[in-house]
Amino acid sequence: MTEWWKKSTVYQIYPRSFMDSNGDGIGDIQGIIQKLDYLSELGVDILWLSPVYDSPNDDNGYDIRDYYKIMNEFGTMTDFDELLNQVHARGMKLVMDLVVNHTSDEHAWFSDHPDFYIWRDQPTNWRSFFGGLAWDFHEERNQYYLHLFSKKQPDLNWENPELRNAVYQMMRWWLDKGVDGFRMDVINMISKDPQMKDAPNGDGSSQFMNGPNVHTYLKEMNKQVLSQYDIVTVGESPGTTPKEARDYTAAQNQELNMIFTFEHMDLDQASGEKWDLKPLDLIDLKENLEKWQHGLHDEGWNSLYWNNHDQPRIVSRFGNDQQWRVESAKMLATCLHFMQGTPYIYQGEELGMTNVKFGSIAAYKDIETLNMYKEKQQAGVSHDDIMKKIYTKGRDNARTPMQWSDEENGGFSTGTPWIQVNPNYTEINALKYRDPNSIFQYYKKLIALRKNMDIITYGDFTLLHREDEELFAYRRSWQDETLTVYCNFSSKSKRITRLEGKKIIGNYPRHTDEDEWVLKPYEAMVYYQQ
Ligand code: NOJ
Repeated sequence: MTEWWKKSTVYQIYPRSFMDSNGDGIGDIQGIIQKLDYLSELGVDILWLSPVYDSPNDDNGYDIRDYYKIMNEFGTMTDFDELLNQVHARGMKLVMDLVVNHTSDEHAWFSDHPDFYIWRDQPTNWRSFFGGLAWDFHEERNQYYLHLFSKKQPDLNWENPELRNAVYQMMRWWLDKGVDGFRMDVINMISKDPQMKDAPNGDGSSQFMNGPNVHTYLKEMNKQVLSQYDIVTVGESPGTTPKEARDYTAAQNQELNMIFTFEHMDLDQASGEKWDLKPLDLIDLKENLEKWQHGLHDEGWNSLYWNNHDQPRIVSRFGNDQQWRVESAKMLATCLHFMQGTPYIYQGEELGMTNVKFGSIAAYKDIETLNMYKEKQQAGVSHDDIMKKIYTKGRDNARTPMQWSDEENGGFSTGTPWIQVNPNYTEINALKYRDPNSIFQYYKKLIALRKNMDIITYGDFTLLHREDEELFAYRRSWQDETLTVYCNFSSKSKRITRLEGKKIIGNYPRHTDEDEWVLKPYEAMVYYQQ
């Protein structure tokens, strides 16, 4: 099977916030179908859908009640089949979210197959990712069950072969339908150390991240399911190093095609807690990405991303969402898309959508944010300090509706959106996506370049100007070609030495034969030489 996913670009859709076709304020499958031509014009190869399965929505679909049913608000299985056909008709592929570390507590398994879950007479002190203890008491059973996420998301017991078979059967059902792969939710957490012990500060992660049998299970899944189809797989894997990532993704290991690292997303936090804010040090980012570029160059494969539905918007985070919004959005895209790996674009990134600041906590919807607010408030943290954390890191930053136009609700819905639209939709929206200077058109160029230039897929990576705190520069080399990428992460002008070769892309229209070269604020440019 060819490794087509090495030259592909993925676009992530968070269906709830993408496009509402029936005016109920919630995005849906027919809404996605309406926008397929827009996505096809962007040139992306693969669409990844965040969960569309039946769910009580404690965690917006990441708590699945029925893997074989589409969430009512999103439509029906007939709508889904139409979507799949329409995606394929445009030469694109469709990847589903696979959430099998846990289900909803409303899944029939929770009552009919309690042995599919993890029970203990005594809980450990582990804290859940969404706050509070990771165990909840079940009256009838008189035992505690483990839930690494909300208490409505009980963890599945992968030690049970019957559970594993039920999961594989479900995966085959979707693949037989024709879906083109899976993005696997926290897949590196499916194997828990059976000893389960109390952990310092309640952080049990060393006992469930990359646990004792995770590779055995993934090899089994690969043998029984994945290897039977021509598909792509990407595993969400917090707390994974490049060495572990190689174990998951090296072709000969027959597990996954690639994983999502989180190391670069954790650089702007001061401790293990994401809410513990700290400004990014660009040198940390450069060295971290360099480590992953080298670590997975010969073996394994990287995924490349700045955004997803759990992360704040990158232009507000590592760029400048005020004066230099357009420039910095393009610069960040350049910096990422010339690296080795498969790039992921999150809905709205191609428009330079930004973080949001709702005045009241009541406007927020995300369980993680709301639980954190309560906990911090109880701990005596001021409202303003908590809101600052939410503005910077809250997941709802990524979940405000897509800004399609300057009409009411940004053209997302004719009803009342389930979460408010970012008020900047009047200015930031997709109306002018065909403007040659738009961020959309810039992404389109980047996607096309990747298809046409093998060096982007295969070249090696050398970090340049390591010590520079504002410049992210690197070289890719392959056979007798080189690409030199210069990205100014600051609003200052920066003098550089002349680059040789031909400029293939940049976010400012300039640089001819000047002797002195100066990078403008957030300027990015790429030179090609043969
Ligand atoms: C990771 C998902 O991306 C996130 O949105 C979700 O809350 C957790 N896993 C739990 O499923």
